[in-house]
Order: sequence, then structure tokens, then C-alpha cells
Amino acid sequence: MTGAIAVTDDGAVRIIRMNRPEKKNALTLAMYTEMTGALREADQSDAIHCIMFAGAPGAFCAGNDIGDFLKAAEGGRNLQAFEFLKAIALGQKPMVAAVAGIAIGIGTTMLLHCDHVVASADAMLSTPFSRLGLIPEAASTLLAPRRMGYARAFALLIMGRPLSADEAKAAGLVNTVVDAAEVDAVALQAAQEIAALPQGALAVARRLMRGDRDAVLKQMEAESRHYADLLKSDEARAAFQAFLARKK
Ligand code: COA
Repeated sequence: MTGAIAVTDDGAVRIIRMNRPEKKNALTLAMYTEMTGALREADQSDAIHCIMFAGAPGAFCAGNDIGDFLKAAEGGRNLQAFEFLKAIALGQKPMVAAVAGIAIGIGTTMLLHCDHVVASADAMLSTPFSRLGLIPEAASTLLAPRRMGYARAFALLIMGRPLSADEAKAAGLVNTVVDAAEVDAVALQAAQEIAALPQGALAVARRLMRGDRDAVLKQMEAESRHYADLLKSDEARAAFQAFLARKK
């Protein structure tokens, strides 16, 4: 256990909190593995009816750890992130996200897999994949155009233009926008509301609404193959090094 992921159960809601505030909740390989374990365990548990993802004040998640990107560029594999993505794509339990502050990269694309999203008024969603010499992941190349329309998805995913909380709500990515101090409580209330529903009907309805998971998985796998190649490209490596060497 890294201590960077805190897993607690509040009644039938499993809260998975990213807790690496000193790095704005950038996700390390170990953090992905811990979150995957918490999700898979919840899937197997009759006592857990809903998952809630939460972050630290001001930082839901700054995306993949760029130091880990650099290590992957130098030959390591990043299977841990892919396992996490599979777990959220295929998970049987509804997922709620409490997004306070920044949500970057996978911090934004994971929201496409969540069933209900509460964001703080100052939340900022962004996916700077192109600037890093990478492509979008998490099946976002399939799910984002579907959810928000191609034009808005292109501006977000490819041009890297951030979305404010209100813009994300208008785009259908966020349900509710509240003050930062209230994000966790409002998200937990929604999670408890979902958790209290009759579980059999909920599971069937959710499965029908989420549609063809094979297509999602296939898209994720295709993205992941390109992603792995691009991670090793000179332009990606230069972008990672520039971030890590930047002067503040
Ligand atoms: N990977 C590794 N470290 C990261 C990180 C990431 N994705 N995001 C933030 N950090 C680290 C910073 O390097 C810094 O570490 P340091 O204090 O040891 O130097 C610390 O977190 C705080 O970040 P800082 O940049 O000082 O805070 P800020 O408020 O000025 O900016 C961000 C916050 C998130 C906007 C900025 O850090 C950023 O752009 N991060 C990269 C996001 C990204 O591109 N993610 C990958 C998406 S695919």
C-alpha cells in the first residue's frame, strides 16, 4: 500500500480517494494497481452497491505521472494503467466522481466511464495528450464524440482546450456543479441514492445503457497499441523531459 490511495466504505458506497496532493494526484503505477484492486473487490462484493472516486482539495487528478511516462518511454511497460481502464470500463457497479479542481488526462477521460459526475465550480477538465506527443486513451476516442459531439470532443481531446465545470456540464460530462467545499458531500449523496436502488433492476438497466462493452474494449486496445508506440517517440520523450525540467 502506497498511502496514495485511500479506500473506505460508507455503507454500501466504496470511496476510492486519490491522495497524493503534493503531486496534484498524478497517478503512479502503484496507484493504478491499488484502484484496480479496490474496484475488482467491489465488483465481487454484495455489500458494495456503488463506487465513488474522489481526490484531494483542488486536485481530482493531474493525469498519469509524467516520470512514469518517461520510464515507459525508456522501455518499461504501463500495463497497470490499462488494467485500471479495463476495470472501469467493465465494472459492474455504478461509479460516481467527485471532481474538485483539476482533472487532467486520465483524470478527465475516466469520467466518460462514470455514471454520475459532480464537479466544483472551479474545476478544470483538460487532456493535453497532443502536446505530450500522445493520443487520447480510455476509449475516449469513441466515447467522447458520442457524448459531446465530434466538434467539442476534438477541441477537448485533440486541441487540448480545457473545459470549465459549466462547459463540461453543458457538454454532458458533468451532472452537477457545486462549491468546492461541497463536492464530496453532494457526490456521496448521489452515490448513496444510487446504492439504495433495487440492485437487480439497476444492474440490468445500467448494462443496457452502457451498451456494447466489446466495442469499448476494442477501442481501448487499439488506442493502447498506438499509445505504447508514441510513448517512445522523440517528441513525447522531449515533452516529458521538458515538463520534469521546467523552472517554476
Ligand atoms: N506527473 C508528475 N508530476 C506531476 C504531474 C504529473 N502528471 N502533475 C503535477 N506534478 C507535480 C509537479 O511536478 C510538482 O512537483 P514538484 O513540487 O516536486 O516540482 C507538483 O506536482 C505540483 O505541481 P505544480 O506544477 O507545481 O502545480 P501547479 O498548480 O503549478 O500546476 C498542474 C498543476 C497539474 C496544472 C501542472 O503540474 C501540470 O500541468 N501537470 C502535468 C499534467 C499532465 O500533463 N498530465 C498528463 C496528462 S496525459
